[in-house]
Amino acid sequence: VICRKFSHSASLNAIKKVTVVGGGLMGSGIAQVAAQAGQNVTIVDLNSDILEKAQKSIQNNLGRVARKLYKDDPSKMEEFVKEANNRIKVSTKIEDGVDADLIVEAIVELLEPKQKLFNRLDELAPQHTILASNTSSISINEIGSGIKRKDRFGGLHFFNPVPVMRLLEVIKSDEMSQETYNTMMEWGKSVGKTCITCKDTPGFVVNRLLGPYSAEAFRMFERGDASKEDIDIGMKLGAGYPMGPLELADYTGLDTNKFVLEVLYQKTKNPVFKPIPLLNKMVEEGKLGIKTGEGIYKYKK
Ligand code: NAI
Repeated sequence: VICRKFSHSASLNAIKKVTVVGGGLMGSGIAQVAAQAGQNVTIVDLNSDILEKAQKSIQNNLGRVARKLYKDDPSKMEEFVKEANNRIKVSTKIEDGVDADLIVEAIVELLEPKQKLFNRLDELAPQHTILASNTSSISINEIGSGIKRKDRFGGLHFFNPVPVMRLLEVIKSDEMSQETYNTMMEWGKSVGKTCITCKDTPGFVVNRLLGPYSAEAFRMFERGDASKEDIDIGMKLGAGYPMGPLELADYTGLDTNKFVLEVLYQKTKNPVFKPIPLLNKMVEEGKLGIKTGEGIYKYKK
């Protein structure tokens, strides 16, 4: 059983085998949506405990998806989970993942390890294989500067949590071919996402626009212009956002917010991205949001 929601364009798609390198938060989500769409997936991570964790979390999530899709048919439910799980292999060796139509990288957010990985993938993967990075802050062109297949390379920027968030940003590298672009867009659709396109520019579309918005929300709270609750209620009821900016920051992690603002400031020099003392202090104190039990708000552990 291939998830109906995702199957409409699967037959047109050139991508049948996908490898995800990095099986953490993002990588496991990307692997899940590809397996749900009927593709064979290999997850590669340096750490075998992470791979085990990824498999468990994918299995749980698939169960949830199956219960929604096949409410009245427990046998289909089971079949869906079993089949999707069977399509996922894991390995700690990159060599086990190179035989793929598409390889998506979701490892640590550092330029050098990413460059090293792509150079290696470029050497090992078959000619037709498309390589993509899920980076949110590093230049796609810089990541791929050492590879030969620059026409078959670009960015596929997913959002957390991957199985839930419907957007995929397809980032055009300078030398990406039209064919690669078309294949990436089609693949995005096949895994249930709405795709938008962006040049290789700092923050792409969403983070570039979210940055000033959340920075101003932090500053407003820091100055005491309004309470945290009122800032969040204001944007939910006045602008129709599903979450307020401070709630959202706690959800994504204040460390991630700080990091994104730093990168945007460094790359654009736009003063709206300047460091925010309150945010720096909270990160220093380990108040990172939901994941540590306290951020702008307090959470029950
Ligand atoms: P994570 O820390 O949960 O997972 C990264 C995984 O990569 C770890 O399991 C680690 O063992 C593995 N790894 C590190 N170096 C490796 C290598 N050389 N080969 C194989 N595996 C390796 O990180 P997360 O949050 O999943 O982020 C991954 C990427 O996705 C980063 O580039 C990040 O910027 C990007 N991203 C993150 C988002 C988020 O909300 N967390 C949103 C969109 C993109």
